[in-house]
Amino acid sequence: MSQPAAHKDVAQPESFSFTPDNLERAKRIIAKYPAGKQQSAVLPLLELAQRQHGNWLPIAAMEHVARMLDMAPIRVREVATFYTMFNLTPIGRNHVQVCTTTPCWLRGSDAVLDACKKRLGVGVGETTPDGLFTLVEVECLAACVNAPMMQVNEAFYEDLDAASTTRILDALARGEKPKPGPQVQRQTSAALGAKFENTLKPNGSD
Ligand code: FES
Repeated sequence: MSQPAAHKDVAQPESFSFTPDNLERAKRIIAKYPAGKQQSAVLPLLELAQRQHGNWLPIAAMEHVARMLDMAPIRVREVATFYTMFNLTPIGRNHVQVCTTTPCWLRGSDAVLDACKKRLGVGVGETTPDGLFTLVEVECLAACVNAPMMQVNEAFYEDLDAASTTRILDALARGEKPKPGPQVQRQTSAALGAKFENTLKPNGSD
């Protein structure tokens, strides 16, 4: 799959440090783990660093996290380069991630991806000239039951086709936040037309 350029190919900031607020958050995260196991905090700390740094993770941020967790920088780099939720290069304001794994593919992810390319005018791994969108292909995002789907930043858009995909991208381009979830008339993952009612009663009631 095509992805944005490697992090070694982009201009890197010379330094990174957490803001005072994020430093406090980082300390609270580290404190959740047993003494001596602070390295387990590497994923949430990288995520915090990425949020702070405009949704991408420069090398200086990985090194900062390594120092905080007393880890070899290469170990942190290995983690950051393994998980696709970490962006190693600057990305557009809307990170459009189209799942093309088998269940989504069988349900029409080709049409979703084509609609993205057509609407945005970019290929996979590219960012629109206005910096609004970056388009990538990703492996299963665990919403297969509502395939095909795409994730934009933190929102999942499901049960897509070319028309609904284009509609969502149009809305995002206008600065709106379209409603996430199924884009057809169904409730969560229930069969089309079915109504889900919670018949469970609170503990202690009949
Ligand atoms: S295959 Fe697309 S979400 Fe699982």
